[in-house]
Amino acid sequence: MVAVAGIRGAHPSQFWLRGESPPELVAFNPATKVWGVYGHAESLQVLNTPSVFSSEIQRKIAVDSRINVANLLQMDGMPHARLRKMVSRVFTPKSVVGLEPRIAELTGELLDRVCGRDKFDLVQELAYPLPLIVIAELLGVPSADRPLFQQWVDMMFRDHQEVSVAEGEQTPQEILGGAAEVLRYIGEHVAERRVRPREDLLTKLVETEVDGEHLTDAEVVNFGFVLLLAGYVTTTMLLGNAVLCLDAFPQWQAKARADRSMLPSVIEESLRMMPPFTALSRVTTEDVELGGKHIPADEVVMVWLAAANHDERAFADPYTFNPARDPNHHLSFGRGIHFCLGAPLARAEGRIALNLLLDRFPNLRTDPADVPTFRDIAIMTGIDRLPLLIGPS
Ligand code: HEM
Repeated sequence: MVAVAGIRGAHPSQFWLRGESPPELVAFNPATKVWGVYGHAESLQVLNTPSVFSSEIQRKIAVDSRINVANLLQMDGMPHARLRKMVSRVFTPKSVVGLEPRIAELTGELLDRVCGRDKFDLVQELAYPLPLIVIAELLGVPSADRPLFQQWVDMMFRDHQEVSVAEGEQTPQEILGGAAEVLRYIGEHVAERRVRPREDLLTKLVETEVDGEHLTDAEVVNFGFVLLLAGYVTTTMLLGNAVLCLDAFPQWQAKARADRSMLPSVIEESLRMMPPFTALSRVTTEDVELGGKHIPADEVVMVWLAAANHDERAFADPYTFNPARDPNHHLSFGRGIHFCLGAPLARAEGRIALNLLLDRFPNLRTDPADVPTFRDIAIMTGIDRLPLLIGPS
C-alpha cells in the first residue's frame, strides 16, 4: 500500500499511509486535547455505544446552528432514530437499484468526452461530476447548477483540518460560508416542492409521513445538505482511490478485468485501505474505560477509521491490498446507528464506473511523469486530480 499512498502528499498525521502503526490503541493528544482511537475493537466500542459516545459534537465544537437542525450526523437517541426512520422510507436501497441504469448512462456520457485522447484526469472528468450529478438528479435540483454545488462543497471542506478543542485553537467546522449557500439553495427548492410536487426525493421527503408525522422544512433542507456533505466528495474519493489501487496492484486489475464480479470486493478493499472519511468525532457523556484508558465525561474522541482498518488484530497483513479477504469488516462507512445511509449508492457508483472504465480503456494506467498528490486534510484520504494515460502502452 505504501507504494500507492506514500508517494506524494498525505497529511503528516496519516501514519497508516506510510505503513506505520499507532503508538497506542487509545491516546490523548495534549496539544489538541482530543482522544484518538486507533484500534478496531476500540473503534467498534465507540461507534456501537452512542449513549456514551455522543454524536452531538456541537456540545464541544462550535458548529453553525443552522446546520444543527435535523443533521442526522450530529444527532443522538430518539430524535436521530425518528428522523432516520423517516428519511429511510424514501432513501432506500431499492431506490438506488432504480438509479443504476441512469448512473451507467451518465458514466458513459462522461467517458465519451475523453475518447480519442491519450490522457485524461479521472477526477475532473468522472469522479467529480458523476456523484454530484447523481445527487442533484436524486434530489431533483438542476444538475446545470453543478458548478455552484461544487464551489460550495469545496468551500466547506477547504482548510478543514484535524479537530482541536485546545484553547484558542477551536476548529469551528469551517464549513459555514458554503453551508449557508447550500441551505438557502435547497430551501428554495423545498418551498417550491410544497407548491408544485414533482417526482423527486425532495418532494418525497416533503410528503413522507410516519405515524402521522411529517418532516419540517428545516429537516428536509438539512437532510439534503447532509446528502451533499456526506455523499459527494466521499464518492469522488472512492473512485479515485479505487483506480489508484488497481493501478498499483496490476495483478488485481488483470483479475478484475477478467472477472467483473470481483469489482465489489475491489471497492471494499480500496475503502478499507484508503477510507474517504478517515476519522469520526464523538463526545463522551460519562466517564468510560476504553482500551485500558480512562476517558472522563465531556471529552472529544476521534475514531480513526483508517487506522482501525489497518489493525492487525482484525485484518491479516493489513498493508497488503487483498480484495479476496473475507470477511472485510472495514469501518469506512461507520458502524451502528449512524452507519452510512448512502453506502448502497456509493457502492453502485463505484462498481458501475470501474466496470465502464475497464471496458473502455484496456491500457488504463497512471502517468509516471504526472503523479497525483493527496489532499492535505487529516480527516480525509483522496486526491484532487488523477491523470491517467489511455493510449497504447
Ligand atoms: C453517514 C462514509 C457516501 C449519506 C456516513 C458515515 C460514514 C460515511 C463514515 C458515518 C458518520 C458517523 O458515524 O458519524 C461514507 C463514504 C461514502 C459515503 C466513505 C462514499 C464512499 C454516501 C452517499 C450518501 C451518504 C453517496 C448519500 C447520497 C450518508 C448519510 C449519513 C452518512 C445520510 C448519516 C447517517 C446517520 O447519521 O444516521 N457516511 N459515505 N453517504 N452517509 Fe455516507
